[in-house]
Amino acid sequence: MGGSQRHRDPYDFIVTVILGIETSCDETAAAVVDDTLRVRSSVVESSLDLHRDFGGVVPELAGRAHLTTMTPVVERALVQAGLDPLAPAIDGVAVTSGPGLIGSLLVGVSAAKAYAVAWGVPVVGVNHLEGHLFAPLLETPDLAWPVLTILVSGGHSMFVLHESPGVHRVLGETIDDAAGEAYDKVARWLGLGYPGGPVIDRLAQRGDGNGLRLPVSMTGPDVDLSFSGLKTAVVRATEKHPEVSMEDVAASFQRAVCEQILRKARRALDDYDVAGIALAGGVAANSALRAGVSALAEERDIECHLPTLAMCTDNAAMIAAAGLYRLQHDGPGRLDFAADPNWSLASLS
Ligand code: KG4
Ligand code: ZN
Repeated sequence: MGGSQRHRDPYDFIVTVILGIETSCDETAAAVVDDTLRVRSSVVESSLDLHRDFGGVVPELAGRAHLTTMTPVVERALVQAGLDPLAPAIDGVAVTSGPGLIGSLLVGVSAAKAYAVAWGVPVVGVNHLEGHLFAPLLETPDLAWPVLTILVSGGHSMFVLHESPGVHRVLGETIDDAAGEAYDKVARWLGLGYPGGPVIDRLAQRGDGNGLRLPVSMTGPDVDLSFSGLKTAVVRATEKHPEVSMEDVAASFQRAVCEQILRKARRALDDYDVAGIALAGGVAANSALRAGVSALAEERDIECHLPTLAMCTDNAAMIAAAGLYRLQHDGPGRLDFAADPNWSLASLS
């Protein structure tokens, strides 16, 4: 119990091994990370199967699932890290406290506080989106700064200038749907099930990106994004051209999404001098987007950070990494800190 002896006042502690907890949506996750950003364990349990038939995550079901999986997932993470689950050598606890589904967040936040009190260590609430920003660091701890991060998930889509660990600025974001949300809505329209991203991505690889004419949205000089018009355009175009194959529809939609993101990424790179570009969030698993970002990095001669699939999607290692930073720079949260379902990343800059 490394932290218990040292934790006399809020800033009098050293955190070398931290437990991260993530329950903002349908994943119950726990991870142990050390202060060199080595991931000692990372366990993710998803309740996705409960939600498939509903075409999206059902908040009530997600919250209840966290209640049953939370403790076993933490225990597995501790054991896999080689720690005694009853008295682990953990110096701090980091937990996602927003944004996300309130019923889901509350399970993680309550659990994190309980572990912190039981072990006598500090606890800190972490912004889920800031967690995603730390994901590339876990795979490349010595990456060059600043980094332009394209954060694209089911709930958010934004460009972030990450100047140094924890110092960041939102440059632009979607004015309506998130990129993953557009994938999920288009997949639902096409009868492809939930989540839509992986299946559309697979189909698109066998299709013609020019098979269906779709508009290129958001051609203005800013770095904001918009995907809701594109989704409507897919609905209209497929009604008008039912003969176009599913593969071609998928490829055309994917091409339009990626073109918009890459065009705006180019604009951000024109305006800001960065040493690297990173992809983060669930849509960072997209094959076309990964290829496009990689080509862009090569063209601009900057580093390219494409996290592994496990690091793109929600996990607790990224929360632990962001929590390490926050504990060291801001000190621990008070034990009465709240979960905030609408906590914006911009409020941290
Ligand atoms: O980050 P994430 O796991 O959850 C949050 O939204 O926080 O992202 C899930 C989203 C879903 O909308 C899913 O359809 C999308 O990521 N996604 C993809 C791919 N894999 C997952 N979208 C496009 N291509 C993929 N290969
Ligand atoms: Zn996420």
